[in-house]
Amino acid sequence: MQIAFAADRPADATVLALAVRNDAALTGLVDGADALLAGAAAGQRFAGEAGSVLDVFVPQGDKVQRVLLLGVGAGDDAAFERAGGALAARLLTSGVTAAVADLSGVEPLATARFAAGVAQRAWRFDEYRTKLPEKQKPTLARVTIVGDDAEWAGRDAVSQGLALARLLATLPPNILYPESFVDRVLQAVDGLGLEVTVLGEQELTELGAGALLGVSQGSRREARVLALKWNGAGADAPLTALVGKGVTFDTGGISIKPAAGMEDMKWDMGGAAAVAGAMLSLATRKAKANVIGVMGLVENMPDGNAQRPGDVVTSMSGQTIEVINTDAEGRLVLCDCITWVQNTHKPVRIVDLATLTGAMIVALGNEYGGLFSNDDALAEQLLAAGRETGDKLWRFPLADGYDKLIDSPIADMKNVGPRGAGSITAAQFLQRFVDDGVAWAHLDIAGMVWADKDGATWGKGATGYGVRVLDRFVADVCEG
Ligand code: BES
Ligand code: MN
Ligand code: ZN
Repeated sequence: MQIAFAADRPADATVLALAVRNDAALTGLVDGADALLAGAAAGQRFAGEAGSVLDVFVPQGDKVQRVLLLGVGAGDDAAFERAGGALAARLLTSGVTAAVADLSGVEPLATARFAAGVAQRAWRFDEYRTKLPEKQKPTLARVTIVGDDAEWAGRDAVSQGLALARLLATLPPNILYPESFVDRVLQAVDGLGLEVTVLGEQELTELGAGALLGVSQGSRREARVLALKWNGAGADAPLTALVGKGVTFDTGGISIKPAAGMEDMKWDMGGAAAVAGAMLSLATRKAKANVIGVMGLVENMPDGNAQRPGDVVTSMSGQTIEVINTDAEGRLVLCDCITWVQNTHKPVRIVDLATLTGAMIVALGNEYGGLFSNDDALAEQLLAAGRETGDKLWRFPLADGYDKLIDSPIADMKNVGPRGAGSITAAQFLQRFVDDGVAWAHLDIAGMVWADKDGATWGKGATGYGVRVLDRFVADVCEG
């Protein structure tokens, strides 16, 4: 999908889209079509609600022009993103190849959010569909936006980051495993000026990453840690670390998961995918901030060399962990990544993202990601970035009482608590690896990475959740 900008409405647009507020009169939009549009709106109960579409054909001499009125409700930026998504959803496989959206007079940021909505909703992955019926193939190749492109470069960067995150979450686990995750990401960010570190198994062993390597030891695939550093501010500027869980497939290990739905665990690397996407976005739009993205990449498999329930592993921090349940592997991967980035790069704040617990889905479903933090200001900043972008977050508590629940009789801690508060005890586990003075937030995005139905700016499948909120957070808090 190509997005182009133009200064004036081309006279010959055969498909024309216009944004309409919920209080707008539908007059003077298309020459000679006032009565037709009013009648069609009344007949279809179109009232300009955000995300709604009125789709009509207007006679013009011996031709017809297709006119789509896109509701933008009260006209906030987010509504324009939804409207762009609605346009793409309507036209993507409609047979239409090109459309013009006239957003003359709309603010530059709202215009860019509209374009982002188009790009995001048009993303899809058809590589393995060799027999897609002609009528299901995408046709829409170009949307020309009449309006101000001043904010588009930044939003385009985010859309590209989102596309990378979605691709990674979508790729099947025989294709995407730790090494190939690294290859794909390095290819995507090639030439953007990111500083790259790849830790292989030998280095991870030397570093004492016993928690992460314990998860990986039952897999034929080798573990990796990928770090991408963006130096967009001066060397003295504070560093923000983004850490992502990248379990490229989670069988549960010896504590194996039930067969039904196990295929979902290909997207158990959604946190790492969001970090990769955010780093691509930050580097593409040359963000004025220093940010390092760390991705812990392993496959959790059961085999003769797999770790057992009851094993005690020593993490990179030196703290020991009794592995009660090999399916609580995400925290074991993240804890060594957190230690590594603190030891080597001294970030002032850390935001980790992980599809960490099924309990998070029980609590929040697919509407909000869970937020846990040791720092109220950081929590507020992330909540605000979530509200602005639509990657919504909801805060949960941390407390000593929960922390005690993961004490172990044989080691410093165990990797699971009792049945209750499973998402909170997972967060408490991670907090034990955060150094004093470091502001930290953990986003449990288990319910957000994959959608089983279409959304405003995504088709069903990978959502790319996390990229937009991270990009916004960096823009609001870490830049300037
Ligand atoms: N990756 C899963 C969590 C998950 C489940 C994400 C479903 C998305 C959808 C995680 O590794 C896991 O298995 N967690 C366990 C923890 C438990 C053993 C304490 C869980 O939630 O059941
Ligand atoms: Mn698991
Ligand atoms: Zn997992």
